[in-house]
Amino acid sequence: VFSHLVQAPEDPILGVTVAYNKDPSPVKLNLGVGAYRTEEGKPLVLNVVRKAEQQLINDRTRIKEYLPIVGLVEFNKLSAKLILGADSPAIRENRITTVECLSGTGSLRVGGEFLAKHYHQKTIYITQPTWGNHPKIFTLAGLTVKTYRYYDPATRGLNFQGLLEDLGAAAPGSIVLLHACAHNPTGVDPTIQQWEQIRKLMRSKGLMPFFDSAYQGFASGSLDTDAKPIRMFVADGGECLVAQSYAKNMGLYGERVGALSIVCKSADVAGRVESQLKLVIRPMYSSPPIHGASIVAVILRDKNLFNEWTLELKAMADRIISMRKQLFEALRTRGTPGDWSHIIKQIGMFTFTGLNPAQVSFMTKEYHIYMTSDGRISMAGLSSKTVPHLADAIHAVVTK
Ligand code: LMR
Repeated sequence: VFSHLVQAPEDPILGVTVAYNKDPSPVKLNLGVGAYRTEEGKPLVLNVVRKAEQQLINDRTRIKEYLPIVGLVEFNKLSAKLILGADSPAIRENRITTVECLSGTGSLRVGGEFLAKHYHQKTIYITQPTWGNHPKIFTLAGLTVKTYRYYDPATRGLNFQGLLEDLGAAAPGSIVLLHACAHNPTGVDPTIQQWEQIRKLMRSKGLMPFFDSAYQGFASGSLDTDAKPIRMFVADGGECLVAQSYAKNMGLYGERVGALSIVCKSADVAGRVESQLKLVIRPMYSSPPIHGASIVAVILRDKNLFNEWTLELKAMADRIISMRKQLFEALRTRGTPGDWSHIIKQIGMFTFTGLNPAQVSFMTKEYHIYMTSDGRISMAGLSSKTVPHLADAIHAVVTK
């Protein structure tokens, strides 16, 4: 009965790893998926995560019962505090609901399905370009996906005028997906002044902000700085949705741990919103997993572990910044034609190089360097040892 099926293509991001794994070359380099690697090119488990796991193992009272539909309640409270700030008016007034979800993707999907069911506007605007999974998540959630201008290939920076025009022309009440920090794939973020203009425009048109926060702490190295745009929207008293992921900032990729928060106008509304979120979650996966959320809760509740985490997070962010400098410098010393200053100007895990699909394919074929076809490279996958190889490949492809 399935013989009519055609072979589906690999995922544009995760498929890069599949191709990389098949390559026997000893010099191969995976700069596709946004996953942190050490200077030795190895995945990193944070020390605080190991300590938290040890605590969990030592605690013989721990059981493996089902969590409630909304997940681990302490984790939810701590996650809201982490993203909105301990002094957030929304937390103080109890007008927020937070549910544990399966990392960023799961949080976006639950939020998308909730909006498709209960919000009067079914159109969501996403940035052009954006993370490849965004349009799929929201289309399958039942929303209509449209794009707004964001990136200017000429300047390799923000197309702020285009952004304001497109959001200004959106139907009142439309949902707008905003990357809280470290925009994926471009590494280009609005300034705080630009965020303020975006906020004013969106509030004046009743546009609903839906933040995707996958990199808190990764862009600037500071958890508070990276959450600032979200906090600006919450401080004005209006509603918003926030999807949080702990994949990158705690290195909990495979634990699939994240949270969806919905900031409402009153505690009463927040309670009813939560009751409806449970109706979205229960038939989807019943309740979320316990282990990852428990690790996060141990770290966030303990002052010492929390401080240790911020140091480890800063070290990861700093290593990425150092990779940017090294790659920029390596291209400069090779005299590679073109302006490569965007490598040091863009922030977060990725550099949007400006290389086209044919150039990417050449680099993969000739240099065994794997990256997404849009020219995005994960700076977190680079090391001092591999920078020269990448610089050689970029130099070769732009001078050929
Ligand atoms: C990425 O963009 O590489 C990451 O967010 C991982 C993923 O799931 O695509």
